[in-house]
Amino acid sequence: MAEETAGEWCGWRAAAQEALYGPQGFYRRPEGPAGHFRTSVHASPLYAAAVARLLCRVDEALGRPASLAFVDMGAGRGELVTGVLRALPPEVAARARGYAVELADRPVDVDPRVEWLAEPPGGVTGLLFANEWLDNVPVEVAEVDGAGVPRLVLVRRDGTERLGEPVAGAEAEWLSRWWPLPPEPGTRAEIGLPRDTAWAAARATVERGLAVAVDYAHPAAARPPFGTLTGFRSGRETAPVPDGSCDLTAHVALDACAGPAARLLTQRAALHALGVAGGRPPLSLASTDPTAYVRALAGASEAAELTARGGLGDFGWLVEPVGIADPLLP
Ligand SMILES: C[S@@+](CC[C@H](N)C(=O)[O-])C[C@H]1O[C@@H](n2cnc3c(N)ncnc32)[C@H](O)[C@@H]1O
Repeated sequence: MAEETAGEWCGWRAAAQEALYGPQGFYRRPEGPAGHFRTSVHASPLYAAAVARLLCRVDEALGRPASLAFVDMGAGRGELVTGVLRALPPEVAARARGYAVELADRPVDVDPRVEWLAEPPGGVTGLLFANEWLDNVPVEVAEVDGAGVPRLVLVRRDGTERLGEPVAGAEAEWLSRWWPLPPEPGTRAEIGLPRDTAWAAARATVERGLAVAVDYAHPAAARPPFGTLTGFRSGRETAPVPDGSCDLTAHVALDACAGPAARLLTQRAALHALGVAGGRPPLSLASTDPTAYVRALAGASEAAELTARGGLGDFGWLVEPVGIADPLLP
């Protein structure tokens, strides 16, 4: 790209904010996230059914309130909230209110029961669920220079990078607490501070119930040495270029986001606790009821994908009860 069209240098946080959520941003496009990548929500309706069962457990723990909220935080095109409302038993569905919280406009064909909001509603009694939201909250990137000093990475619209000022202040504190960089030149980290703040604000909207964040995650003991910032376009991983043409995502330090009552588990463990199992149906069913056998086989393979090692099953679930017992514990 010519120098005059490549734009100004700025930090990755501001660059990604504009590229994803600005007026021409990637997430403003009509095709939505599902046009470019598959989350657990798109992988199988078993996922929404499991989240509906979790909402039922929260309902029980709350003593079956007259109004039970389900907040789909970073809702994409509202696929999860729609699936959850459909999967609820009638007695719970009659008391449930579904909210999609999303920066993009409401699609025309969303279930009319879903309320579409730009901010989470306050004072919620129920379940707030954020599936693959935090990895899209823009963050600064730090890289260690030749003298062993972590510096902010600056980027232009064409994806060219150079190093800026040394990381300082609250960002330096976050790095030293959550992702200390070794002095080797070229090692990188994503500074997760804006995600901690965003999650704390979302969680604070739950007055009683449960807040859950699900995402690609890494623990303090195993941060990736060069970070994970990457792009996605039309189903393929691509170089991260902040020009609005692709998704920009980086795995989440979910342990840094965790509040005092939080528990972290894998998606595999969470879905197993909610009754999603990948076992094959008995072969005898194939002769007694072939249609049921084929359906059960398809369900088993979808469950296996949602709980797979090296895949969706390794995602982190950050589970934060507010005024109730943890409904995922046996
Ligand atoms: C990766 S998509 C996930 C969509 C959906 N949850 C799923 O799992 O299929 C992330 C979504 O979060 C939305 N988003 C990002 N920041 C947001 C914010 N502060 N408030 C509301 N929505 C936000 C984006 O517009 C995008 O649709």
